[in-house]
Amino acid sequence: MDSELVLVIDFGAQYAQLIARRVREACVYSEIVPHTASVAELVARKPAAIVLSGGPQSVYADGAPQVDPALFDAGIPVFGICYGFQAMARALGGDVAKTGLSEFGRTVITVDEPGHLLADVPSCFNAWMSHSDSVHAAPAGFTALAATQGAPVAAFENTERRLAGVQWHPEVLHSEYGQRVLSTFLHEIAGIGSAWKTAAIAEEAIARVREQVGDKRVLCGLSGGVDSAVAAAIVQRAIGDQLTCVFVDHGLLRKGEAEAVERDFVAATGAKLVVADAKDQFLGHLAGVTDPETKRKIIGREFIRVFEEQARELDSEADIEFLVQGTLYPDVVESGGGEGAATIKSHHNVGGLPDDLAFTLIEPLRTLFKDEVRQVGLELGLPEAMIWRHPFPGPGLAIRIIGEVTSERLAILREADAIAREELTKAGLDRDIWQFPVVLLGDIRSVGVQGDCRTYGHPVVLRPVTSEDAMTADWGRLPYDVLERISTRITNEVREINRVVVDITSKPPGTIEWE
Ligand code: XMP
Repeated sequence: MDSELVLVIDFGAQYAQLIARRVREACVYSEIVPHTASVAELVARKPAAIVLSGGPQSVYADGAPQVDPALFDAGIPVFGICYGFQAMARALGGDVAKTGLSEFGRTVITVDEPGHLLADVPSCFNAWMSHSDSVHAAPAGFTALAATQGAPVAAFENTERRLAGVQWHPEVLHSEYGQRVLSTFLHEIAGIGSAWKTAAIAEEAIARVREQVGDKRVLCGLSGGVDSAVAAAIVQRAIGDQLTCVFVDHGLLRKGEAEAVERDFVAATGAKLVVADAKDQFLGHLAGVTDPETKRKIIGREFIRVFEEQARELDSEADIEFLVQGTLYPDVVESGGGEGAATIKSHHNVGGLPDDLAFTLIEPLRTLFKDEVRQVGLELGLPEAMIWRHPFPGPGLAIRIIGEVTSERLAILREADAIAREELTKAGLDRDIWQFPVVLLGDIRSVGVQGDCRTYGHPVVLRPVTSEDAMTADWGRLPYDVLERISTRITNEVREINRVVVDITSKPPGTIEWE
């Protein structure tokens, strides 16, 4: 299937991904390109439209990226958002006043002349703004459509040339009618169809893998998470038994998760699965270790060791050429950004690629956002619990036990964690909470009393967080009655735990995980 392509030009990392997602929600395939791409490069991709994203505060700022006016003569429909709107106005000869005044947050938009773009929205609505400077006069040939208190021209269009733009951020949820405005541009002004659907994504991904792999053999590491499961399911549909999945059971998953991989995943997909039971090996290497970074390093190293061993064995039985990776589109975009971030914790993805294995990569999710991956997973019939699983760190429960990791402590934490997750699900809050670590303070005991007896047990910490990308997070305000049920059940049902506390630290300064 050849979908019509919309290119989102990235003027600032925060916005482009969200815009690209919204374009896809309007059933149009979109990709992000850096603002350094030349007009010739853009034109060569034959986009059905281009969206200029938000970005730095002022088009007059030192080094602020500009738009080459030639873009607007290429006959491609263009939609400017926020900074993109101002850059567009400037490139087309409009007046962008260097006011130094700013509007942030909720702003009232007043529609003066709805034109095409705003024909389906009320004459007055709220939208999210984040700008300094403002467009004072639309470029020649354009109709000014709307205004705000701080922006005399807050939207304009020239439908003949299929160019339009808005000062606000239609892509954020706080902007009323945002998706409608974007859809009007894409479907009515740019005249793009609605061919991009998740069913089509799955079919297309399957066809692509079939073509890439031919009759060769493929290996895939499963982690229990949604990305590797969906990637494997796509490849399984494409090439059936040429795929072998490997699940390294490091014994650090939560209650029921290893079983979900071994039983439910196989039942849902029919994939050939090899389980490497390495629980003892991991526990052996973790014995006596309390330092968080050392734990992570050991787990990363052992994981690769076990995975490699399996891979070599399978490779010697039948020549394996490809390795499946569950890389998502945001990873692709972010690694293209090239800016090194400080290492706060040494992350490692179980299911990740051992560097020296000479396989060619298959990345069937490379163009997809997480919500699309979930949609594809549901269409391929994967278990819901796997699809909606909260993010879970590769090193698993080992970094949620403060102190040494032992099988007893793992068993305690697994029970407490299962209760917390169950109550969260019962309260219908799974989608409101990004992640809900339960942390066992293995080296700490406190005094309690249960049934007239003194106890001297361990505390657990509940760490509900809300987040959009795990880069920043806030502590999740769980209702008191949900907290109460979790606390009562844990202290009643898990004998070794006599105290439950809640972590109310945002990130920063706290990270989501405790180690
Ligand atoms: P922190 O604790 O740094 O975590 O706020 C941010 C997000 O990353 C997850 N996390 C990991 N994921 N391997 C992973 O695959 C890791 O080693 C790892 N460490 C943390 C964490 O659960 C949160 O979603």
